[in-house]
Amino acid sequence: MKREALRVTSTIPVAPTTLYFAWIDSDHHSSMTSATAKIEPTVGAKYSALNGYVTGKLVILDLGRRIVEAPLVDGRIDLGMLGAAFEQATAGGRPVAYLLCSPHNPTGTVHTRDELTAVATLADEVGVTVIADEIHAPLVLEGATFTPYLSVAGAENAFSLMSASKGWNLAGMKAAVVIAGRAAAADLARLPEEVSHGPSHLGVLSHTAALREGREWLDDLLIGLAANRTLLGRLLGEHLPRVGWMPPEATYLAWLDCSALALDDPADPGIRGLVTSTGGAVGAFLERSRVALSAGPAFGTGGEGHVRLNFATSSEILTEAVTRMGRVSSGEPSGAR
Ligand SMILES: Cc1ncc(COP(=O)(O)O)c(C=O)c1O
Repeated sequence: MKREALRVTSTIPVAPTTLYFAWIDSDHHSSMTSATAKIEPTVGAKYSALNGYVTGKLVILDLGRRIVEAPLVDGRIDLGMLGAAFEQATAGGRPVAYLLCSPHNPTGTVHTRDELTAVATLADEVGVTVIADEIHAPLVLEGATFTPYLSVAGAENAFSLMSASKGWNLAGMKAAVVIAGRAAAADLARLPEEVSHGPSHLGVLSHTAALREGREWLDDLLIGLAANRTLLGRLLGEHLPRVGWMPPEATYLAWLDCSALALDDPADPGIRGLVTSTGGAVGAFLERSRVALSAGPAFGTGGEGHVRLNFATSSEILTEAVTRMGRVSSGEPSGAR
């Protein structure tokens, strides 16, 4: 029998991240199509969509890359989770990179030397390349010690990414460095030349000035952030006692578990990868208290019911923000201006 091929194309007017997660996640797919979908985010796995009208197997995405998550457990790296993720990711025999956020955004966890050594051992066993994003390293607060990933045993074939952009608030002046472990220098040399074209001249100058001349400024900043961390703990206890949090060991970010407030909106679960999405708790705080936070679901599995609060501000603004958030959660008028 003669066969014909039919190619249908269509433009879906949403952000790429929205489409990506609708592609690989049952809930996101269902909320986009308003029909039941069942999708397992594994290449080759069966999927069904539109109440079973469409079925098939998930083929590899065009980019040839996919995300396998290894969520933290109680804020710490979990070797079981990580091992399972490595196993799943390496199953097809393709090269795998583990993006390790150290210190961690959004939880503010500072991984210990023992934890990082265990990661290096595990990655080495299965041939995974570790890329440690250490952009928050200058922001380790009193009480914690930062361990550079490349300094741990077994990390010779890894990479570290560093920048002054977080510590000195230079995000508008782009610059960063990538540092290769001793055994990864050849891989670094193979990066296309254009990769080095990103930083602007002003970016390079400002980052150099920050790293060379800005140590005392950073020391003062860290004292202020540690004080704000203490203040935030007090304010949460007073105004949002049902919100769970673990004081961060680093960063100016607080990861707040608001699930007990039941502010999530099942019709708008938020969008993975998009911190400015407005569903759920983050939408409730924005609309009712005019306090802008980052959406928990943006950070992947485990982000449901959470928001991320930036406490790099004055004690007055922090107090005002948490006070207003408290009124929202208690159902009182927020008094927002
Ligand atoms: C862990 C981490 N890496 C990288 C970035 C990107 O930094 P930049 O804005 O300097 O490009 C961010 C920004 O939020 C971050 O938190």
